[in-house]
Amino acid sequence: MKTSLKTRLLTIRSNVFSYLFITREFLLDCLRYLRHARTFTSDPGNRKSLEATIIAHYHVLEKGLSMPNPSPGHSLDTARSLAALLKRWAAQGNQPSSQVDFAHGVLSAFTEFQHNHGVDVADLRTALAALHASAVASGENVYQLKQNAALKHNWTSFADFAMSRHSVRVYRPEAISDDDFEAAVRAAQHTPSVCNRQAFYVKRLIDAEQIRGALSYQNGNRGFGHQVPTLFVMGADIRAFGGRVERKQPLVDGALFAMSFIYALHGRDIGSCPLNWCVSHDNDRKLKQLLNIPDYIEIVMLLAAGYPDPAGKSPASNRHEIAEVIR
Ligand SMILES: Cc1cc2nc3c(=O)[nH]c(=O)nc-3n(C[C@H](O)[C@H](O)[C@H](O)COP(=O)(O)O)c2cc1C
Repeated sequence: MKTSLKTRLLTIRSNVFSYLFITREFLLDCLRYLRHARTFTSDPGNRKSLEATIIAHYHVLEKGLSMPNPSPGHSLDTARSLAALLKRWAAQGNQPSSQVDFAHGVLSAFTEFQHNHGVDVADLRTALAALHASAVASGENVYQLKQNAALKHNWTSFADFAMSRHSVRVYRPEAISDDDFEAAVRAAQHTPSVCNRQAFYVKRLIDAEQIRGALSYQNGNRGFGHQVPTLFVMGADIRAFGGRVERKQPLVDGALFAMSFIYALHGRDIGSCPLNWCVSHDNDRKLKQLLNIPDYIEIVMLLAAGYPDPAGKSPASNRHEIAEVIR
């Protein structure tokens, strides 16, 4: 059937409008991000940014300490930056923060570790003493890593289950079995999704060389990436979405699915660690080329996984006070 000129013109008009509307929405996302995120400055201006920067710094230190053989001398620059950030926190007279208290504990444990391994950390010890004197932290926080063996659990409630999960980075060498993989996917498929569209995507890698290749584009696996026995690519299929206002939905549905999958693995005593996919389009394209993943897949994260090595340790990853979240 021939479409009339008028119908065709109306369709073109609607498409042009959609194109401009969606472009504007993406642009507004971009501008809001630029307004609030720390993009052009490494200077954490407000309390929230400063605290988040402190957390990110201490996380590097506790992650380093949790590695199978932490190397003496690692992350000293990060530790010195953390000491400077804590000093700044004190100078600003900020309200007490359990995270800052915790950071102090991690920095003390880190400094102790380096000192015990013959590394000269006199400056850090002096900084810690000064911080203690300025009461930036109570000094009561004695830092302790978590033990992988504690993963095995008898859960009596969802709260028990959720609170017993933690990211595992030290695994036994064998890859996750087909049965475990499929069972975890089946459970995770019960994740809610917009209109039940189920755009979920997961790809499993068990070939060591392929895993190494994929991880070469990811920036958060230093110290343990070379021993990851199974790597998942978690995402969503953009083709399931459309219209003018669904631009964030692939990320939302993909991330919900990833979380369910992490819990499903945890329910089978399988450890996992999400790996950020904060990459440029260039690296996203390179990974997709390497793994033969179509362009229409929105990758939300990589997920390292394996059966936990009971001797392995994990960062304690302390949580905010609940009042920081309920606002
Ligand atoms: C989206 C996302 C990206 C993450 N990226 C990394 C990463 O690149 N490297 C890493 O070691 N951990 C990564 N993590 C794990 C976090 O460090 C971890 O979830 C956090 O410290 C809380 O600890 P927990 O998972 O043990 O409770 C990531 C977590 C999420 C949710």
